[in-house]
Amino acid sequence: MITLENVSKSYDGGKTFSVKNVSIHLPPGKLLALLGGSGCGKTTTLKMINRLNDHTSGRIVVNGADVMRIDPVALRRSIGYVFQGSGLFPHLTVAQNIAVVPKLLDWPKERILKRTEALLDMVRLPAQEFRDRLPRQLSGGQQQRVGFARALAAEQKVILLDEPFGALDPKTRFELRGDFMKLRRALDLTAVMVTHDMLEALLSADLIAVMKEGRLLQMGTPHELRTKPADPYVSELIDGPMREMKDLKDRIDDEKGSRA
Ligand SMILES: Nc1ncnc2c1ncn2[C@@H]1O[C@H](COP(=O)(O)OP(=O)(O)O)[C@@H](O)[C@H]1O
Ligand SMILES: [Mg+2]
Repeated sequence: MITLENVSKSYDGGKTFSVKNVSIHLPPGKLLALLGGSGCGKTTTLKMINRLNDHTSGRIVVNGADVMRIDPVALRRSIGYVFQGSGLFPHLTVAQNIAVVPKLLDWPKERILKRTEALLDMVRLPAQEFRDRLPRQLSGGQQQRVGFARALAAEQKVILLDEPFGALDPKTRFELRGDFMKLRRALDLTAVMVTHDMLEALLSADLIAVMKEGRLLQMGTPHELRTKPADPYVSELIDGPMREMKDLKDRIDDEKGSRA
């Protein structure tokens, strides 16, 4: 469970606010999409949850504990983080990248080995073939698969993802998103995913939080956002993908019609 209560963040001692009075409640096992345009405060919000950034005011609670009362290093090791791009260590192999947090946690070698194999299997990269490769010997999609495995290596139940599919071509994006959705259900993950793509949010999230200029405009289920948009900006964001889907459906119907 993740709760933000009236959370604000200023990087300049209170002159300006990158995040202002954001309140979010995410029940366990659910996926929240943090959605909005560039610079609206999505990454800042995400990073306050695991204290890569400390908030200026308000309160953030993860699994019942106020994050300010947890040692930030321990907190970060307990929460998976998938970086924009893949953020893998370029000089470490796939297996070494995955093992970073388990090693810091002093897991025995045997346990790390087993876990690495299991994770590579889960993200559908055969261990035999991929274990010893360096990140530069992987495609973008494969790198991001390793990014997922690394984020979950220490059996984290909470995962934060910053535009995890952003840099990928549409086909890879589609495949990887499908695999991630299965994984997060199988592992019952609580997830916060940053995206600027409303279609992605509508397709994958249980809850969507729409941000603009550091503020939360609306939070709700995809259905609530579609049927009761609380702000013209939300309608605008929803209308784009809905129109595209309708155009696609019309086109398929037309083609069916012309064949019949
Ligand atoms: N480390 C930082 N120091 C100062 N300003 C920052 C820092 N990180 C982000 N910002 C500012 O905060 C605002 C929100 O940024 P960010 O959270 O990265 O937005 P998003 O992820 O939605 O694109 C932007 O105006 C950005 O310039
Ligand atoms: Mg960002």
